[in-house]
Amino acid sequence: MRLDKYLCEAGLGTRSQVKKLLKSGTVTVNGEPALRPEQKVEEQDRVAVAGREISAPGLEYWMLYKPAGCVSATEDRRFPTVVDLLPESAGKDLFPVGRLDRDTEGLLLLTNDGKLAHFLLSPRRHVDKVYYAKIQGTVTADHILAFQEGLDIGDEKKTLPADLEILKSGEDSEILVTLREGRFHQVKRMFEAVGCQVLYLKRLSMGSLKLDEALQAGECRMLTGEELEALKEETGCWNR
Ligand code: URA
Repeated sequence: MRLDKYLCEAGLGTRSQVKKLLKSGTVTVNGEPALRPEQKVEEQDRVAVAGREISAPGLEYWMLYKPAGCVSATEDRRFPTVVDLLPESAGKDLFPVGRLDRDTEGLLLLTNDGKLAHFLLSPRRHVDKVYYAKIQGTVTADHILAFQEGLDIGDEKKTLPADLEILKSGEDSEILVTLREGRFHQVKRMFEAVGCQVLYLKRLSMGSLKLDEALQAGECRMLTGEELEALKEETGCWNR
């Protein structure tokens, strides 16, 4: 696609506004200054304006505050899906990046950028995920050590070290836990392994992306340019 068309489709203005932008010398393609509107760009090229990368046209990134009761899927015969919570204006090919259990709430990213999704979920990249949980049972300093050492939750390998922070300890406890991997029901299974039960679970962040406190459960918004840039930076995913 021509660079001027690409910039227009990415929402940077009309053809003539984009021509001016190109003349100003602030547009780069793969780090090289780009001045010619007719320059060809491919999907994998990194196009930036004033040092800030812009997304390829058609790619969308939504932050959803997933409520309990819906499933992290694009289709389901029994339950509403997270995709059903996006506005009508959202793209039709969006999917959730990873899964939260039906009864888990919190941050979920939906996109149609398969590459970024792959980078975020890749076990090699260890993107931290932080969860808040209410726990039935007394969480103690021993649990902090056990989580740090890694737990046998019935899989082939022990879990990777996880950071556990106790917010309240008592008959019912409240904690923050940071995981560096994403196994099935992982938080619940880690607490089961130490004799406790998760009563409520909410994901607060995924890497640098934090659940927007202004969102209510069931609401969503598009990611800001800064949020997207930070995710690409930390995963090394620059659409190459
Ligand atoms: N761990 C769980 O047990 N459930 C989730 O939904 C996410 C992490």
